[in-house]
Amino acid sequence: MKKLVSILILSVLTASCQEYYQKPKSKKVVAKTSQKQENITTQQDGQSLFKQYCMSCHLAVPDPSKRDKMLAPPMVRVVQHYKGTYTDKKDFVKAVVNWVNKPSEDAVLMPGAVRKFGLMPPMPIGQEKLEQIAGYIYDSDFGHFGSMKHQSKGSLQLNNGKKYKLDKHDVAQVHKAVSLLQNADMKDVEGYRQTGKKVFDAARNILLNKKYEGKTLQQIQLFFHNIEDDMHHLMSVKTKTEGEKYRKLVLNKILKFDNYFSAVE
Ligand code: HEC
Repeated sequence: MKKLVSILILSVLTASCQEYYQKPKSKKVVAKTSQKQENITTQQDGQSLFKQYCMSCHLAVPDPSKRDKMLAPPMVRVVQHYKGTYTDKKDFVKAVVNWVNKPSEDAVLMPGAVRKFGLMPPMPIGQEKLEQIAGYIYDSDFGHFGSMKHQSKGSLQLNNGKKYKLDKHDVAQVHKAVSLLQNADMKDVEGYRQTGKKVFDAARNILLNKKYEGKTLQQIQLFFHNIEDDMHHLMSVKTKTEGEKYRKLVLNKILKFDNYFSAVE
């Protein structure tokens, strides 16, 4: 009898033990499925929110039949600029959310688009919705439409043998950027990124300066489009080796600035 009782107790114990060990297992399975469902809903929500809030102005990809009616750059181009600068999803989402909440000339990555379409109006539709939209944009494949360089036509040339005249301040900023870039072997990755940002700031100010029009503006755009990809890379390098590579690339290209542009006396 004693033996039977102990067997009984033992089996009860093992049973509860089994139950104990099984529980978290089944819980895990449940958690996994609901997370999966959550991902799917986020994806769908992101897409429908994007259609609802963004597609009235942004097409996904360029459509030649709507060329004259375009209100904003196609998303594929926006993504090219943003992924070139913010490679991690977290940084990308943060940048897009910040942008949509408060577009400003200081934060713009596409100064050419601002000149063409005007600054985007702010759309503070709530953090959660914006994060869903930005996450959807990051995960979506809008395709590849060649390098950013191919967007502009023509080649760099002098103005009847003379350089284009720009504001003193603008030229000085480029020269400052050059001297920053000449500083080889920066202390850390952040040093390269900050240099990239300062160089891009100089370029952006020139590209946004409303005094420049016509042929001058076209030449300015051509000059900086040629450096754009490398500037974006320098702003987001992950290693010092990468930093050195893009520092040299940007420096070699931006050094040609004085061949085409000079300050007004
Ligand atoms: C009323 C029209 C309009 C709507 C709606 C709109 N945009 Fe824009 N957006 C623009 C224009 C114009 C530009 C280009 C000029 C600029 O960069 O400000 C732009 C540029 C951008 C850029 C690039 C900014 C940069 O750094 O140059 C991002 C990112 C962007 N839009 C995201 C969004 C998202 C996400 C939505 C939806 C929540 C959205 N936009 C809705 C007009 C719009």
